Amino acid sequence: SQLNLAVVVGSLRKESFNRQFAEALVKLLPADVKPHFIRIDDLPLYNQDSDGAPPVPAVKRLRDEVAAAHGVLFVTPEYNRSIPGVLKNAIDQASRPWGQSKWAGKPAAVCGMSVGAIGTSMAQAHLRNVLAYLDMPLLGQPEMYFQWKEGVIVNGAIGPASHDLAQKFMTAVVAWVRRHQA
Ligand code: FNR
Repeated sequence: SQLNLAVVVGSLRKESFNRQFAEALVKLLPADVKPHFIRIDDLPLYNQDSDGAPPVPAVKRLRDEVAAAHGVLFVTPEYNRSIPGVLKNAIDQASRPWGQSKWAGKPAAVCGMSVGAIGTSMAQAHLRNVLAYLDMPLLGQPEMYFQWKEGVIVNGAIGPASHDLAQKFMTAVVAWVRRHQA
């Protein structure tokens, strides 16, 4: 059956390497898995005072889109050895009010692209910590620590040197998401 894979990109930058990476990765999905890019750039900063009130439209949209997903793929840069605040804000927004987290139980996978040599490994470790707390079953292998350089993405597709790993990863993501459907 058809799967809806939510894709969350942790950068708002127009030419974001992670957005380019995410767009290239979803080209490796089989036809029965539809990627859905989740918008996070218009979310207000999370404030617990708002938990009791109806959510503003952008937050309601985020929560509905996460709720509708069969699984979630996070594609994130590393900022100062952690995840960007914009990504944490989106995660927090869909995790509340207490007891109504939209992330709970959604199978997830993480990957990222950085200009630094460690390829977002510390950001991914922090993100895994957050997602584990949110009760999201996390794909363990293969890991995807990408460094931006010439040839990593060619004409919007994963370049030849990384193609096999990326394909293996996306195949594992789909199998992981399928395995966790009730
Ligand atoms: C960075 N960058 C970065 N890179 C890295 O490998 N480790 C890090 O801790 C950081 N820290 C960091 C902090 C801040 C505030 C910025 C703006 C950048 C560099 C980062 O890899 C680079 O800017 C990427 O291009 C960001 O990803 P997008 O926006 O291209 O997807």
